Amino acid sequence: MEKKLRLGFLASGRGSNLQAILQACRDGRLRAVPAVVISNNADSGALALAGHDALPACHLSSKTHSDPDALDEAIAAVLQKHDVDLVVLAGYMKKIGPATLRTYRYRIINIHPALLPHYGGKGMYGLTVHEAVIKSGEKESGATVHLVEEDYDSGLILAQRRVPVHSGDTAATLAARVLETEHALYVDVLRDIIEGVIQLPVQL
Ligand code: GRF
Repeated sequence: MEKKLRLGFLASGRGSNLQAILQACRDGRLRAVPAVVISNNADSGALALAGHDALPACHLSSKTHSDPDALDEAIAAVLQKHDVDLVVLAGYMKKIGPATLRTYRYRIINIHPALLPHYGGKGMYGLTVHEAVIKSGEKESGATVHLVEEDYDSGLILAQRRVPVHSGDTAATLAARVLETEHALYVDVLRDIIEGVIQLPVQL
């Protein structure tokens, strides 16, 4: 039987994308194994979800490692210790450090709640993204899955899915519509990576 892809997650908050992916692994829509969840936030929903499923999980942040390089190396080491093949950022609010980027070059993916390259970059997260989309009078927004590079939201785009912006939308109503699409898109992209429909620049 073909080896299942081992996924390592980095998440900071609620963890609804993580939850969607864990569910897809459980019910067999994804031939993947959730190997470890790492969070910079000890109280995150993401760590609670990992606890529910008895997944290996840990809190790594400036609180556990005051030196950013040591933190970066600790993150890379945990991912390697759990034989992670692909790193999935699921609402991770921190930059990925050079050691992790080097170890997992072209093997780190992220989801962003807008149609990159628009409405991305430093400071573009949470409701700010959707406020900017509405303010610009866009008729469409959406979600983007992309490879992670050194700068925020800058790597190769792997897939996008569009969502309408309705008149009368608030940032919160638009965010909710986009989030629903994110959950489906992230699972679909992972399935396409696993099945070779989407080819990453490196062999997994
Ligand atoms: C999502 O909107 C995602 O696009 C962004 O952060 C949010 C995380 O939400 N990167 P959740 O923690 O997965 O619920």
